[in-house]
Amino acid sequence: MKILAIGDIVGSPGRAMIRDFLISIRETLDVDLCIANGENAAIGNGITRSIAYELFEHGVDVITMGNHVWNKKDIFRLFDENLPIIRPANYPPGTPGRGYIIVNIKEQRVAVISLAGRIYLDNLDCPFRVAEKELRHIKKLANIIIVDFHAEATSEKVAMGWFLDGKVSAVFGTHTHVQTADERILQNGTAYITDIGMTGPYNSILGVKKEIIMNRFIRHMPERFEVADGPVQFNGVIMEIDEATGKASSINRLLITQK
Ligand SMILES: [Fe+2]
Ligand SMILES: [Fe+2]
Repeated sequence: MKILAIGDIVGSPGRAMIRDFLISIRETLDVDLCIANGENAAIGNGITRSIAYELFEHGVDVITMGNHVWNKKDIFRLFDENLPIIRPANYPPGTPGRGYIIVNIKEQRVAVISLAGRIYLDNLDCPFRVAEKELRHIKKLANIIIVDFHAEATSEKVAMGWFLDGKVSAVFGTHTHVQTADERILQNGTAYITDIGMTGPYNSILGVKKEIIMNRFIRHMPERFEVADGPVQFNGVIMEIDEATGKASSINRLLITQK
């Protein structure tokens, strides 16, 4: 089974990249399941209802969120509508939405789990313990298990990779918007990468107009974030998972940049 994971889609440039290229990328790479991080898809971060439907229409199967999950109030309705959109599973019990989803692809049950890190982010429940707890029942429901670990610190992400090695098919990182070059198969068969990067403006700082962020560092004055324009990049990974064992056989980075 071939699974494509797309890094944080930023604003209308990122969405345009999905609209214009995802269907053909899916066909070219023979993708069975496409997971995309949508926490920055709307203006001011978060996701709206129309944007979610637009992403599904253009080839995304499952949308994962992150620390920006609550930025747009539409998210509550999206959760009520039971769409394949998930938020980190380690929010406290009782939080709206769900932390994992099971989808049927090629007569296989594939689980996608979202978790968030705690270093330089909200102090949620322990993602390691929550992963362990959720896996106890997810293991009985799905053979292929994919984890989006939305976190800042590389150490926390690498630790999660090793913690889940052999227990899940893949652990990929999101949130930093910068793709790392450490993709590999861990010793017990789990595909791993610290961060799959960002799908959004290429000449930017994490998707935002570079002048705004530089000014923040230099002048320390508050300024409204604006999504940059110009050429756009597509970042993600394509992973191959053995359907019989649930183990990964390959993970490769994707970086496409418009000229
Ligand atoms: Fe993000
Ligand atoms: Fe994030």
